[in-house]
Amino acid sequence: MKVLYVLSLIYLKSLLAIAANDDEIKSLPGLPEPTKFKQYSGYLNASKGRHHFYWFVESEKDAANAPVVLWLTGGPGCSSLFAMFTENGPFRVNSDGKTLQKHDFAWNSVANILWMESPAGTGFSYEDNVAEPHNNDETTALNNYLALESFFLKYPHLKKNQFYITGESYAGVYIPMLAKQIYEHNSTINLKGLAIGNGYIHEDKFDNFGQSRYDFALGHGLLTTDTYEKLTENCCECKAGVIEHQCDFSQPANHSKCASVRQSSVSTPNPYNIYDNCAPDLSYQQLFNKYYKQAYDRIGFKVDFNNNDNKANCYHYGHSLYLNTESVRKAIHVRENSRRWEGCGGPYERVHTATQEQNTLDLINKYKIGKFIIYNGDFDTVCDFIGDQRFADKLGFTQTEKYRRWTVDGQPDGVIGGFVQHYEKGFSFVLVRGAGHMVPYDQPEAGLQLLKSLIGNTKL
Ligand SMILES: *[C@@H]1O[C@H](CO)[C@@H](O)[C@H](O)[C@H]1NC(C)=O
Ligand SMILES: *[C@@H]1O[C@H](CO)[C@@H](O)[C@H](O)[C@H]1NC(C)=O
Ligand SMILES: *[C@@H]1O[C@H](CO)[C@@H](O)[C@H](O)[C@H]1NC(C)=O
Repeated sequence: MKVLYVLSLIYLKSLLAIAANDDEIKSLPGLPEPTKFKQYSGYLNASKGRHHFYWFVESEKDAANAPVVLWLTGGPGCSSLFAMFTENGPFRVNSDGKTLQKHDFAWNSVANILWMESPAGTGFSYEDNVAEPHNNDETTALNNYLALESFFLKYPHLKKNQFYITGESYAGVYIPMLAKQIYEHNSTINLKGLAIGNGYIHEDKFDNFGQSRYDFALGHGLLTTDTYEKLTENCCECKAGVIEHQCDFSQPANHSKCASVRQSSVSTPNPYNIYDNCAPDLSYQQLFNKYYKQAYDRIGFKVDFNNNDNKANCYHYGHSLYLNTESVRKAIHVRENSRRWEGCGGPYERVHTATQEQNTLDLINKYKIGKFIIYNGDFDTVCDFIGDQRFADKLGFTQTEKYRRWTVDGQPDGVIGGFVQHYEKGFSFVLVRGAGHMVPYDQPEAGLQLLKSLIGNTKL
């Protein structure tokens, strides 16, 4: 009986090993030279009928023991492959859409990195027989968790390794909710920490109400002090008794009075990085118009994607063309007749039971996650650093050091990466200097240093 059991286990293991090998990318079109690391891609089953596309790249160093790091792009509904090819992956696609170039600060130089497209309806991820899968925060968290367990079924030898969750933007919602799922399911996934970049974490209280973005606009010369004061006086409900910096610009006490003083700010072509003269990728323009534009209109913060005097110098990567090329799709195991790959898409509802604040406190105090990093590029207005920094500070953890600078290579005389506030219990707020919404895109070396600090290779 026992022998049979052991034999069947071995059989099962070999089946799983074969399954994982089927996902190995044997030859990737456009590579300048063969890679020294292995990579895999395909689908991970989530809840019934749902399949999340993933791309897994082994660490260049000690892949068997290196941590496993999940990356989730936000949106909601934007593809993690977008980040892989423009931010932290091992390659960039040249503008020809065919050839690849090596990226020097790839995150898999120090860890095994898993990019997962989530939820279904994003990128190549899909739901059986459903053209437009419907998602909300709760279903996304559960599906991310189930897909992650499917990943470790395919790669059981990695389940003992340290595991970290990273991502950016609306993943500020996905990440803590996924981490909670792991704990609530009593999973054996070895979760050690998480990092949220330019996260949508301060939500309604600060973001939609507009105060931090408004402060950002004043501080960066996009509004005059005169306009700032008039708008504050006439356009926001500053509730008595609540802490400072909490005006609700969605509820002016007197709408007509507010409208009479509202003036447009000077416009910027890129709300994700105010010092970038290039408009963002088309998919991010659409995303902005769908979810964020309204909150900007409220405070007269003007974004004009066409007001872009520098088009000829705007470098655009060719990942979209590349991912829609038949030979590439075959090589990375995209199913036949899959729809066109798009950077962002799909309907999404903001439905959740716990607040962001509660999730953060639970992860740190109740589940003792060990490391919780909130980092922000300081040129971004979509999820600005002021709101996220106020969110971090308001949680009430004790500061363990002064707010101080950190360097991109960890050397005292190195290039400044930004500033950091460490708190007790492994909680930190990190400012990344000179980066927009996509930190590893604008400051790749600083982005890699952040990852190293998350996984314990260095301290910021
Ligand atoms: C994933 O789901 C499909 C059905 O949708 C099934 O055929 C396949 O066996 C599942 N894979 C695993 C590894 O469970
Ligand atoms: C996880 O463990 C706790 C405590 O042992 C238990 O109450 C809970 O039901 C478990 N949850 C699951 C999903 O197994
Ligand atoms: C709103 O402001 C206008 C002037 O801009 C004023 O005429 C009007 O009485 C105000 N309404 C209320 C309800 O205070």
